[in-house]
Amino acid sequence: MAKDIVILGIETSCDETAAGVVKNGKEVLSNVIYSQINVHKKYGGVVPEIASRKHIEAISFVVEEALNEAKLSLNEVDAVAATYGPGLVGPLLVGLSYGKALAYAKGKPFIGVNHIDGHIAANYIGGNLTPPFVCLVASGGHSHIVYVKDYGEYKVMGKTLDDAAGEAFDKVARALGLGYPGGPAIEKAAKLGNMEAIEFPKSFMEEGNFDFSFSGVKTAVLNYLNRQKQKGEEVNIYDVAASFQRNIVEVLVKKLVEAARFKNVSKVSIAGGVASNGFLRQKLEEDAKKFGLSVYYPEKIYCTDNGAMIAAAAYYDFVKGKFSGMDLNAIPYLKIGEK
Ligand code: KG4
Ligand code: ZN
Repeated sequence: MAKDIVILGIETSCDETAAGVVKNGKEVLSNVIYSQINVHKKYGGVVPEIASRKHIEAISFVVEEALNEAKLSLNEVDAVAATYGPGLVGPLLVGLSYGKALAYAKGKPFIGVNHIDGHIAANYIGGNLTPPFVCLVASGGHSHIVYVKDYGEYKVMGKTLDDAAGEAFDKVARALGLGYPGGPAIEKAAKLGNMEAIEFPKSFMEEGNFDFSFSGVKTAVLNYLNRQKQKGEEVNIYDVAASFQRNIVEVLVKKLVEAARFKNVSKVSIAGGVASNGFLRQKLEEDAKKFGLSVYYPEKIYCTDNGAMIAAAAYYDFVKGKFSGMDLNAIPYLKIGEK
């Protein structure tokens, strides 16, 4: 039997200082997340400079905890991996430098991981999903429809031309006074509202177009709120939240299902922070079933940023012998599929 491969993964691309230890790309031995959300909340979004400082404060402790929980010493891991892009450059540099230093000090291989690759690989954790499949990656910074041909081999079928889906959730939540991060707040508010109450516009709905544009619906919500205010009419924020969420989810699901049919694959998956949305999961299950597609999604804790997904993605590089040099730098605008 082949030897088990244990990888320590570090993630610091945005506002979570995270580290996880994963065996063979699937079995999570630990997943420690220090979220800075409370620090950034009062600013209504992530402040990059503050995020960098908080990562520096937390990184040693978070990595130590991840190893402790996994009951392993650094000597016992086979490789160290860290996100090197895309993301905020200061935050990225903290985790990347820390990961490289650990690997160098212990003479272990180092693997730089593309953050989006990590989100997709979260789908392999604890499950039995294997390529090929089509994956929707929807987070605060990204909305992509990706054809996953093989492990780490991607073709981007479509992407957002303006706001990411999570970004739209965050901006609309802020306008509704629901706070940051907006996704979970909108999902909660939507449960109390009528999702058919307001029809907001959808973009690029013609068949075969897998790109997204979410700035239109965001502006439509803001205009609606202003109009109601001008007319002196009350706004039912629950109806707005539910109608907005339905709009975004319908667009995401339609395009994902269509993309899978276009590629003639039988499996679809979702990844990224927005993939933890319960209504999205439910609607995808319903629509995918109509076309005989199997649906996969990570546990919620592996949808938002975490270290385990980085270790999971690194595993497939490890088995191919693809390691990174100590000169690897942070790349804030790293594209999916780029190494
Ligand atoms: O993947 P992630 O943790 O960080 C990025 O890589 O951006 O995603 C965070 C994004 C935020 O925009 C947040 O509002 C959104 O994911 N999000 C959600 C939900 N939970 C997080 N959006 C919709 N519904 C949710 N339940
Ligand atoms: Zn992310």
